[in-house]
Formats: sequence, structure tokens, C-alpha cells
Amino acid sequence: MERADRICRHPLWRDSMEQIWDLERDRVFCRHDTAHCLDVARLAYIEALEQGLTVPKELIYAAALLHDVGRHLQYREGVPHDQGSAGIAETVLADCGFTPEERAEVRAAILGHRDRETGERRDLAGLLYRADKASRNCLFCEAEAACNWSPEKKNMILKG
Ligand SMILES: [Fe+2]
Ligand SMILES: [Fe+2]
Repeated sequence: MERADRICRHPLWRDSMEQIWDLERDRVFCRHDTAHCLDVARLAYIEALEQGLTVPKELIYAAALLHDVGRHLQYREGVPHDQGSAGIAETVLADCGFTPEERAEVRAAILGHRDRETGERRDLAGLLYRADKASRNCLFCEAEAACNWSPEKKNMILKG
């Protein structure tokens, strides 16, 4: 997991995550902080183990750590955050030693993480999509009633 650790120490990743933290300070809905990234990584890895999917753990962590990293670009410049995140991810992944093939796989997963059809897939993109949605604790959220997620999407019961 050495290369995933390098992502967490990369100045561009850290600076982006700090900007997102500042910009979301007063946000009542779900935040896109380091805890969210790690929740997504762990949930995706658990599903990969449970389902016997042969997606490398380090790629799962890379995609989870980077999937929302461009959120500040959405707030500041109106860039859709899947696209902003994919751009930042390319630089960070290259600096951290990921191959062009690995970068392409992570990029596709990041670009698909807001697309409902991605949720049907049994690959990195599908794992990321499902873990991202499953990570939100709607059952305990004070802003749940005001949240625009559809009732089917909200996590109101524990899933075994
Ligand atoms: Fe996102
Ligand atoms: Fe997310």
C-alpha cells in the first residue's frame, strides 16, 4: 500500500482536501473529507472481499482517496467534481508511481462515480459507486429531510 500512502502525503491531494474542508465548514449535508474517502475505501474493499472481486486493494484506495478531490473546483469554478477530480488524480497518480493502465482504470471509475449505470458493474468503477453511496449514514443525519437524495438512495436501514 506504499503508493496509496504516497497519495495521502502528496501536496496537491493535501491542499485540495484542506480547501474542501474549509469550503464545507458550514455545510449541513454530507461532507467530502478524509473520513469520507476512507469510509469509501474500506466499504469498497469489504465488498471486493465478500464478492470475490479481484480488484487490487491499492487501486480501490487510490480511487476512493481521489474521487472527490476536485470538489473545491466545483465550489469555486463550477467544474463538475468528477471531471475536476479526474484531472487532479492524473497528476497525483503519476507522481505516486501508478502505471498508465492503472491511471486509466482509476480515471474511468472517478468519471463514472455519479452515473447510476456504473452501480451495476463488477469492477473498480462499480465498487467505487456503491461504496460512495453506502458510506452515507442517512439514518442518523439531522439534515436527512432536507437532503435531495431520492428515498431509494438514502441509507435508512443497516445493510448486512
Ligand atoms: Fe462525488
Ligand atoms: Fe464521495
